Amino acid sequence: MYRTHTCGELRLTEVGQSITLSGWVQRRRDFGGLSFIDLRDRYGITQLAFNEGVDADILSKARLINRESVIQAEGIVVEREKKNKGIETGEIEIRVTSIKTLSSAKTPPFTIEENTDGGDDLRMKYRYLDLRRKSVLEKLLLRNKISMLVRTYLNLNGFADIETPYLIKSTPEGARDFVVPSRVNRGQFYALPQSPQTFKQLLMIGGLDKYYQIVRCFRDEDLRADRQPEFTQIDCEMSFIKQDDILNVFEGLLKHVIKEVHSKEIGSIPKMTYATAIKKYGNDKPDIRFDMTFVELNELVKGSDFPVFNNAELIVGINVKGCADYSRKELDTLTSFVKRPQLGMSGLIWMKVDENGIPSSSVKKFFDQSELKKWMTEFDAEKGDLVLILAGEKTKTRKALSETRMHLAEKLGLRKPMEFAPLWVVDFPLLERDEDNNRWMAMHHPFTSPKPEDLKIIDSNPGAVRANAYDLVLNGNEIGGGSIRIHEKKLQSKMFDLLGFTESEANEQFGFLMNAFEYGAPPHGGIAFGFDRLVAIMGGDEVIRDYIAFPKNNSARDVMIEAPSQISDEQLEDLSISIKLKD
Ligand code: AMO
Repeated sequence: MYRTHTCGELRLTEVGQSITLSGWVQRRRDFGGLSFIDLRDRYGITQLAFNEGVDADILSKARLINRESVIQAEGIVVEREKKNKGIETGEIEIRVTSIKTLSSAKTPPFTIEENTDGGDDLRMKYRYLDLRRKSVLEKLLLRNKISMLVRTYLNLNGFADIETPYLIKSTPEGARDFVVPSRVNRGQFYALPQSPQTFKQLLMIGGLDKYYQIVRCFRDEDLRADRQPEFTQIDCEMSFIKQDDILNVFEGLLKHVIKEVHSKEIGSIPKMTYATAIKKYGNDKPDIRFDMTFVELNELVKGSDFPVFNNAELIVGINVKGCADYSRKELDTLTSFVKRPQLGMSGLIWMKVDENGIPSSSVKKFFDQSELKKWMTEFDAEKGDLVLILAGEKTKTRKALSETRMHLAEKLGLRKPMEFAPLWVVDFPLLERDEDNNRWMAMHHPFTSPKPEDLKIIDSNPGAVRANAYDLVLNGNEIGGGSIRIHEKKLQSKMFDLLGFTESEANEQFGFLMNAFEYGAPPHGGIAFGFDRLVAIMGGDEVIRDYIAFPKNNSARDVMIEAPSQISDEQLEDLSISIKLKD
């Protein structure tokens, strides 16, 4: 038997018992005729004690063991003289009677401690060593816990877990596909699914009624902190439902997860239209844990002598409460922040309200005290507040102010990781314009239904049509998105037409779905959560990489197994592929 207990299990109640433990050597400490080894496994750390006076042979054997070696130790549980309240097994130690090395370890390339000296690349190359660190391990265990909570909730609510294929057909919508060549079908390729979207709809047509799957999705897109090329969705679909039914079921899911993980109750999730989100927060995933909502000044400053305002499509600002003491230097730094090429603003205008309630501003040459007082009313600005204003083209200005708002919130400690403020963003536009290619794109995906009341303008003003689509936003992150689907062939064809597909292209790409609509399709809709994002936020983070056992790096590479890699000439031959790389 390798072990009678785990390294996290023994307490004072076991004192006097003979036990066997197996695990990794976290560290060894040697003093004169005494040595201690901290033995670690997934469950905790137990101190092994070696004493020259008790057994000199075992002590000298212990002193030959390297850090991170796997050992087995037999011994007696004894009460510690010096107790360590910091660990759960800290009141006992093991007086070792026999010790055996099961696998010795070379010196690891970085220290396997909470504060490791290993850089990102090194830790990724030796991910199996990184996983030994408690904080990394705990992230994966949190992932497992949430997966179980989700499965339990969905099963209790009648959802059936059904698998859908990974080798599917490449389609032009959405992100780029990862493709897989077929050997049997020379010159043809499968695509890995970006999501099981069409399959889950076909399951509804097949009568499954409520489906879910915790499923891997693949998208060949640029990586960011909250994006991986392969990631996991909690993918769900329901039949005979309206939008509110879906919002209720999945509000319940989020509440269940937050309650079980953090023992916190969240009230019912507020809804905000896409239009409001853009106007008040400058983006469609607002962090509503703090205020600093946008105030538009176009009307108020109309006809001033300030050229920047007169030439601007939008003049909009935020009130940064209590920050009137920002120095010139801090304001200059903020100005540089908005002038970065990514945001591209020409400058930043500020107004401060001093302790006597008197406003001063970077544009006081153009706006006198009485005008600034009007600004104060507009922004609800009081003594000690700082107002920041940007002016320019609408979309660009909103984006820049949104980033400034998030930047300041981070700096001011307003983005509290353990405060959860979910929000439904609803009524997304059906379409968005792809200016480069002069065409409409589906904002969510082509299977999303338009709002019935907007159908009348679908030909005259397609850009103004709203969709039955919703996102679930948590603390400024999009953690889920879904829609009520089109379930009629006619409307689906119309949608493809709007998206610029010819009839034959639509049939070639999505004929299977449109045919299925002709055999009795129930009204249906669904949602998919970004599981990695949900887990990361529950863990108090926004970077998803650490919550994935074996993630890709920023260049979409697995540096541990060195993938992607070239394949052999024989493999290429089998696939009838010859490679000619372009420059
Ligand atoms: P969508 O494309 O919005 O919808 O994806 C759903 C959720 O998946 C997460 N997500 C990602 N997470 C990590 N890395 C990525 N590269 C990545 N891309 C997306 C986000 C997002 O909200 N089939 C539809 C859902 C539906 O309509 O039911 C879909 O895939 O959290």
